[in-house]
Amino acid sequence: MAEKVVFDTDPGIDDAMALAFIDCARSLELIGITTTTGNGTIETTTRNALHLVECLDIPASVFRGAAAPLVIPAGSPPTFVHGEDALGNTDPRVEQREVSSLSAAEFLVDCANRYPGEVAIIAVGRLTNLALALELDPGIAAKIGRVVIMGGAFGGNGHSGNITKVAEANIHGDPHAADIVLAADWPVALVPLDVTMQIIMTDERMLRIRAAAGEMGELVWQVSRFYDAFYRERHDIDGFPVHDSSAVAFAIAPALFDTAVAPITVDLEGDGMGRTRRAPDADRPEHESCASVDAEAVLALYEETLVQGPS
Ligand code: RIB
Ligand code: CA
Repeated sequence: MAEKVVFDTDPGIDDAMALAFIDCARSLELIGITTTTGNGTIETTTRNALHLVECLDIPASVFRGAAAPLVIPAGSPPTFVHGEDALGNTDPRVEQREVSSLSAAEFLVDCANRYPGEVAIIAVGRLTNLALALELDPGIAAKIGRVVIMGGAFGGNGHSGNITKVAEANIHGDPHAADIVLAADWPVALVPLDVTMQIIMTDERMLRIRAAAGEMGELVWQVSRFYDAFYRERHDIDGFPVHDSSAVAFAIAPALFDTAVAPITVDLEGDGMGRTRRAPDADRPEHESCASVDAEAVLALYEETLVQGPS
């Protein structure tokens, strides 16, 4: 039986690619999409989520998340990475689909209580919704099956930060929420920059996906052009990292990654704000965090899953 998944996301170009991946993965059943502020304002990312479910004919409902982090200001969206509309300036529109009446945090609580032990959360944006859900009902920590997070950086493979020298964007964007999520006693796996920056999608592979994956292939090709140009120019790499799809790959095939197990803390102030640390002596539960990856196998999994298409 497929594992029930709530996708907590700030679409976002790599988020859109990850949503397509989940939709096509036979081992995952998408039961809802919760939106976060990050790659755009909450209005933008929620509009984009609705646009994507409409275009890709995905039946899952969309739940609007928090407009601001728990403590710090929201900041400006990174339009230079994801475009003015956060989907690579592709002019996303919504004709029919509507946002649901429950908030993202309420939906997460509802899922945990309705399907105890059965739901995975794949979180690829700021962790505000997860922290708010834990605040609403701390009992959900014992009821969520697992939490897979794209976020953080530990300096492995030379990757220590993408928003500051030491912090990754999803954690830096709401460090207080991240710290609450990492302090909770639920099974968490972090998929940090240490591995996601190793998983580089080339034009060659994107063109194969575009040719073989129908409308979904065309959509991921179109939205990713802006992102591809950003990474080629700014980071001088031949393609772009598929950050959020890396978390989906971990959910589907964890054996493609090696992980460390330790309590994880988040720096909450100063120049290091948002820095994640493996802290063996910290008085909090141990969590997994990825240290290395078979990048070629993750990219091949992405390609074959999209080419196979939705079930
Ligand atoms: O640091 C990369 C992460 O920040 C990705 O989830 C990307 O979509 C942005 O949210
Ligand atoms: Ca994201």
